[in-house]
Amino acid sequence: MALEKATGHDKKLQDRLLESGEVPQHIAIIMDGNGRWAQRRGLPRIAGHHEGVNSVRDIVEACGQLGIKYLTLYAFSTENWKRPEDEVSLLMRLLLKALRDEKDRLHQNEVQLKAIGEIHKLPHDVQDELLDGIEVMKTNTGLTLILALSYSGRWDITNAIRKMYDDIRSGALKQEDITEALFGTYLATRDYPDPDLLIRTSGEVRISNFLLWQLAYSELYISDEFWPAFRRKELYAAVAEYQRRERRFGMVSDQLKKQEGTRVIPLSGMERFLKSVSKL
Ligand code: IPE
Ligand code: IPE
Ligand code: MG
Repeated sequence: MALEKATGHDKKLQDRLLESGEVPQHIAIIMDGNGRWAQRRGLPRIAGHHEGVNSVRDIVEACGQLGIKYLTLYAFSTENWKRPEDEVSLLMRLLLKALRDEKDRLHQNEVQLKAIGEIHKLPHDVQDELLDGIEVMKTNTGLTLILALSYSGRWDITNAIRKMYDDIRSGALKQEDITEALFGTYLATRDYPDPDLLIRTSGEVRISNFLLWQLAYSELYISDEFWPAFRRKELYAAVAEYQRRERRFGMVSDQLKKQEGTRVIPLSGMERFLKSVSKL
């Protein structure tokens, strides 16, 4: 199976972006503004969620074509369960339909599907469809698409501490072995590098309990577009802005210039941990 390629003007835009600098290895997106997009059109909020699926399709495809390795989409937060029951239930039905409808296309595009969050809290049919998609696509080699579902950063950190406590009690882990790198291996994102670029749509400037630990040094990009209107051209603008940024990681510009040529490849939590262990 092969990735559908960009064509025409879109291909030119992608080529220009690829020539002008490095694309982020991992993009995370807070897909916000579905309700407002619909309400501005006199439509029910769910119509915005519905149209938002078309944005997901477009952004996933464009990320794959650009060679971006990881895309994490914040689709449903822990706090979103507190929304009116009918909206939550419609969102879950829509999620099920989207997973069913998009599965073949994602698979054809070599996407590897993953999920983070309290998956066991999702309706059973959604869980089944999700796990089936993950299984079907597990050997694909293209974009890794990570859906954050019933996810929150505070849940992730609390859950990690709970698991570490179990390991300390069983003797598998010693308190003195706890490092930042090791902590990362207890998070739901243990297999992925931290996001290089975080995009939030709809003009809101907040994290809303997303990847609190992992966003430590991500570049932040706020788009005024509502998610259903956020398509590949807006993504290209975000990546172009990312390429103009200087990521200093606490250092000063001159140090970074000296390092030029030695590309720093962000490591996943597990890679960082293995590296730190191999030095012991
Ligand atoms: C994002 O859009 C989708 C989810 C949080 C599930 P919203 O539903 O938050 O839309 P607004 O922000 O109310 O417009
Ligand atoms: C964040 O959007 C969660 C998702 C996009 C899934 P919200 O709409 O829930 O965030 P707040 O309430 O505006 O902070
Ligand atoms: Mg919102």
